[in-house]
Amino acid sequence: MTQLADENQNARVNLDGYVHSRDMAEYERLRKQAQMWESATRRVLQKAGLSPGMHCLDVGAGPGSVMSIMAQGVGPKGAVTGIEIDPGLVSMGRDALKRRGGANFEIVEGDINGLDEIPGAPFDLAFCRCFLMHMPDPAEVLAKMRAWTKPGGVVIAQEYDFGSFAVEPDCSAMAAFSELFEGVFDAHGRRMHEGRELPAQFAAAGMETLSDTHSEVRFLPLSEMAGMLLGVYCSLFDAGRELGLVDDAQKEQFEADLRAASESGDYFCLTPSLIAVWAVVA
Ligand SMILES: C[S@@+](CC[C@H](N)C(=O)[O-])C[C@H]1O[C@@H](n2cnc3c(N)ncnc32)[C@H](O)[C@@H]1O
Repeated sequence: MTQLADENQNARVNLDGYVHSRDMAEYERLRKQAQMWESATRRVLQKAGLSPGMHCLDVGAGPGSVMSIMAQGVGPKGAVTGIEIDPGLVSMGRDALKRRGGANFEIVEGDINGLDEIPGAPFDLAFCRCFLMHMPDPAEVLAKMRAWTKPGGVVIAQEYDFGSFAVEPDCSAMAAFSELFEGVFDAHGRRMHEGRELPAQFAAAGMETLSDTHSEVRFLPLSEMAGMLLGVYCSLFDAGRELGLVDDAQKEQFEADLRAASESGDYFCLTPSLIAVWAVVA
């Protein structure tokens, strides 16, 4: 059981501290987010040496989208292991990977912070995406990934940096979004600049990152990002309401403002930057 239902306030708070909701709408948002960054992640994995026969690990695997890219790279002689804390996503990922086939898969259901060992280790490649920003101690997670990787293998992290994130020109919907997003992230100690902090965190985990990094940002009509912004807002709403940052009326207003701005065709969204760095394990 990862969520607590508070019947009085209808609030749902994840007992493990994860700030996004855990429901079908959020799972669908994660799938869409994965599609948006699929080519960026494919490129990073290729640059870092993903190849047939490898054994790979994806930490915080979500709906299994990165595991699927890994599976294409490692082929039938390779193996792909995921770690995911949310049982709903574990079963969704298992179903999707079973349908895909083409490599050996395993998804371990658990909290990385409580795992000292993982079946399939040591790996040739250990990866995480949009994950360390949610961790209380990213260097500790990276140290685990390093310990579970063979000498000569590679540890990769691909994380958001929200420094670039904006809607142009200014609009009330983005102001309301930022208030909720930044309020929840600050209150729960999530990192807005995880991407740029990666080299220092790798160093704290005893790894030197290569100078060959990869980063991507998109600039899109707001109409193409409105669904994602709404999805993130909804997934943070219960955490924000618990902090007294938002209420139902503000949510309704946000939805109306976002719809109007999106339909006007006057606004563009600069996405967060997705920054990847990697290190070869000594
Ligand atoms: C923002 S999602 C990213 C999912 C996936 N990496 C992707 O990029 O498509 C973060 C994922 O980490 C999982 N997660 C959060 N805390 C975790 C923990 N302590 N151990 C394992 N998984 C965790 C969440 O359930 C969620 O699926």
